[in-house]
Amino acid sequence: MEKTLAILKPDAVERNLIGKILERIEGKGFKVAAMKMAQLSQCEAKGFYDVHKERPFFGDLTSYMSSGPVVLLVLSRDNAIKEWRDLMGATNPADAAEGTIRKDFAVNIEKNSTHGSDAPDTAAFEISYFFSQTEIVG
Ligand code: CMP
Repeated sequence: MEKTLAILKPDAVERNLIGKILERIEGKGFKVAAMKMAQLSQCEAKGFYDVHKERPFFGDLTSYMSSGPVVLLVLSRDNAIKEWRDLMGATNPADAAEGTIRKDFAVNIEKNSTHGSDAPDTAAFEISYFFSQTEIVG
């Protein structure tokens, strides 16, 4: 079983979409291996998105990610990284396929409702950024 980090972003939490998104996650065969809510500081958001620090949207992204509560999840299943990215859809909801979470729920490229790790090394970093080993089951 592979693990990936998922975040339900402030726009999703604010619009009471936690239940609807978790239903899609569980419906696709993922096991929730860890879950908690958090209100990130901008400093924590900057550390998480450090790979994007040179991008023009870095300031807005980290302000937004610290603007309200988020749900942090470790998801487990076979091929979890790709399966979660497929379920989310394209980063920009304007490009997202029908039936994906971002197509159905995202507001725009910044308020795009969910995050997912993009590769095994980033999944390992992102999971350990928010969760200790004892908080993860399975
Ligand atoms: P996420 O998958 O969390 O990874 C980085 C985030 O930066 C991305 O989702 C978007 O929400 C946000 N972002 C804002 N502007 C852009 C952009 N122009 N290109 C890519 N990502 C962007």
